[in-house]
Amino acid sequence: MIIIITGTPGTGKTEVAKAVAEELGYELINEKDFCTKRNIGRCDKDELVIPISALKKALEIEIYNKENIVIEGHMLSNIHLDADLVIVLRTNPEVLEKRMKERGYSPEKISDNVMAEILDYCTIHTESKYPKDIIYEIDTSERTVEETTELVLKIISGEYSGDEVDWSQDSATILTRDINKKLNG
Ligand SMILES: Nc1ncnc2c1ncn2[C@@H]1O[C@H](COP(=O)(O)OP(=O)(O)OP(=O)(O)O)[C@@H](O)[C@H]1O
Ligand SMILES: [Mg+2]
Repeated sequence: MIIIITGTPGTGKTEVAKAVAEELGYELINEKDFCTKRNIGRCDKDELVIPISALKKALEIEIYNKENIVIEGHMLSNIHLDADLVIVLRTNPEVLEKRMKERGYSPEKISDNVMAEILDYCTIHTESKYPKDIIYEIDTSERTVEETTELVLKIISGEYSGDEVDWSQDSATILTRDINKKLNG
């Protein structure tokens, strides 16, 4: 089974994918490590800028004729691979903002990623690449890495059908706060 785990930065892809791969005894591919090892992309202000077409081509070659791989990364929502299951990790924008602050992200990066989560960026892009019946969302906001991992395993075994995510209420609070901050300096 080829499993893709994607989502906005900070939603927990790396930790959950590692635990899922360990539980299943699957190979694990981290998008960023994969690109670094193969010299795909270039560094710009400490950020690795990855060209989507090169990533797609290299991953297609990597997974060709292989089974049992977990691939994780946020760029994966922009490419189609021959996958059996796509998990989109979601996190309440306020919780995500807190997680990114704790990780010392710049205000611009936090704001960009919170906006991406508010706009359902990864879900919408994933839905344009894959059939809906292989895409599942999991809300990690009030769950631990272990609980989220457990839910991925339950999705695989057919015991869980994912979460319905809707940040519209929470987003209004964040956006109003940010607009007020800008207006009041
Ligand atoms: N339910 C949860 N599932 C996964 N991670 C969680 C959860 N709750 C809190 N976290 C924490 O969120 C933080 C971000 O996790 P992680 O580094 O795996 O995110 P990521 O999606 O891989 O981010 P990036 O795209 O920047 O690599 C970690 O400190 C992790 O422990
Ligand atoms: Mg990561």
